[in-house]
Amino acid sequence: MNLAVFASGRGSNLGAILEAIRKGDLPARLSVVISNNASAGALELARSNHIPAVRIRQQEYPSEEAFSEALISLLAQHEVDFIALAGYMRMIPPDVIARFRNRITNIHPALLPSFGGSGMYGMRVHEAVIRSGVKISGVTVHLVDEEYDHGPIVMQRAIEVTANDDPVSLAAKVQKLEHEMYPQALRAFAEGRVMMKGTTVWIR
Ligand code: GAR
Repeated sequence: MNLAVFASGRGSNLGAILEAIRKGDLPARLSVVISNNASAGALELARSNHIPAVRIRQQEYPSEEAFSEALISLLAQHEVDFIALAGYMRMIPPDVIARFRNRITNIHPALLPSFGGSGMYGMRVHEAVIRSGVKISGVTVHLVDEEYDHGPIVMQRAIEVTANDDPVSLAAKVQKLEHEMYPQALRAFAEGRVMMKGTTVWIR
């Protein structure tokens, strides 16, 4: 599996993916890291691991079609066959989704379909979870389709939200779980163990 990771932020999930590859727990090659954000920790992390790191933004292109073409040719240049979104805070253009149908995953820091959708990212998710009073949260890995936080769910795990939790402590617990889960989910794809029937996905 020739992987591209798209990330806008710190890049801790990228770090977990890199570590899993290094340890032999994820049979993949990380071909390129792509970000919209020049100061993303993820780009720095990629560069320090000698992985091509590219910043590309839709605003720099005259149209969405032109941006899609640029992204698709960047991915082809790096021989990418699978995309993992890891804290990427932009929509993937429909042409790219169509080209990589069922080969793009996203990790979300809550149990979708709750606490997802536009504007629900990072700390905002954990704040909403705490405000709601739910007693469990967790992590979702899902396939990416044209709707935000919407595609078929591949893997989900729950953690308890305790009376002592605040958004910061919850975020820390969720991120720890993310770092275990994302490499495992990607490994299932790399090993051809992800099965699909309609929009239902499961791992063998
Ligand atoms: C992760 O918690 C990820 O689930 C979240 O952004 C964080 C990125 O952290 N993604 C979303 O909220 C997407 N809706 P990282 O840069 O340290 O990997």
